[in-house]
Amino acid sequence: MPLEIVRDPRELRLRVEDARRDGRRIALVPTMGYLHDGHVALLAEGRRRADLLVLSIFVNPTQFGPNEDLARYPRDLDGDLAHARAAGVDLVFVPEVAAMYPDGYQTYISVRGLEQGLCGASRPGHFAGVASVVAKLFHLAQPHVAVFGEKDYQQLAVLRRMVRDLDFHIELVGVPIVRELDGLARSSRNAYLSTSERVDALSLVRALGRAEALVRGGECDTGRLAAAAREVLAGAASARVDYVELRDAETLETVARIERPTVLALAVFVGKTRLIDNRVLTTTSI
Ligand code: PAJ
Repeated sequence: MPLEIVRDPRELRLRVEDARRDGRRIALVPTMGYLHDGHVALLAEGRRRADLLVLSIFVNPTQFGPNEDLARYPRDLDGDLAHARAAGVDLVFVPEVAAMYPDGYQTYISVRGLEQGLCGASRPGHFAGVASVVAKLFHLAQPHVAVFGEKDYQQLAVLRRMVRDLDFHIELVGVPIVRELDGLARSSRNAYLSTSERVDALSLVRALGRAEALVRGGECDTGRLAAAAREVLAGAASARVDYVELRDAETLETVARIERPTVLALAVFVGKTRLIDNRVLTTTSI
């Protein structure tokens, strides 16, 4: 089957309504494009779970702050379409900004608790932009299942809460973080890194590894674990910590000790590029 490219939101509605009428199961993988192996893993998961696999590519302006990288966010539609074909995508939705946000657009979804702190602290309004565009994509694509990466841990928590709170009848599937051979989490933003920054970027995964090793050795105090992670990050010349936090893996509440699964979440500027990474830590007794 040739890959179908749809730009008009109304046309997408018609296509998925047809599919639903035929009893086909729809999976949606929302992305901002510049696809890499992380996105490809999401597409593979969607392919396994549905008859009609829909990929959306939309660099969503409402989730970028005024001083962020919206204008220079990397784009490569031809490359993305090649990845999509290889991954067995049926339909790619590539809307224009004006089609998603017509003049006078003013509605935003706020997931009030989970959007606070972590990335929400340094990116005010970011998660309202994410939740709102994903809600729109859900309405347009009407998927049975939607696939997201665990790399954006808080994003997935926010979206799970939104789906529950607003009664979306959609199963959300989380996919583990896909990494480069040397451990760096795949990200479209890795393209911004210079050669020396690419080396310093490894400090994130090393910091996670150091904390994990300490937990395995019996350390449960989250203050000491955060300090150990910061120490690793401090060793990278071009790295500047945005946050290093340990939160309950489910509620994202701050925890003093690791007694339940706990996520160590990092956001670090390497040069001008902001990278995130995380790992869920559990003591052997959990
Ligand atoms: P984007 O950054 O393009 O990511 C799209 C999806 O790919 C997200 O669910 C993200 O968690 C996942 N992903 C990215 N890198 C990954 C990796 N290394 N391993 C596993 N999954 C990875 O996240 C967004 O776009 C946007 O906020 C979006 C949800 C599309 C809303 O605009």
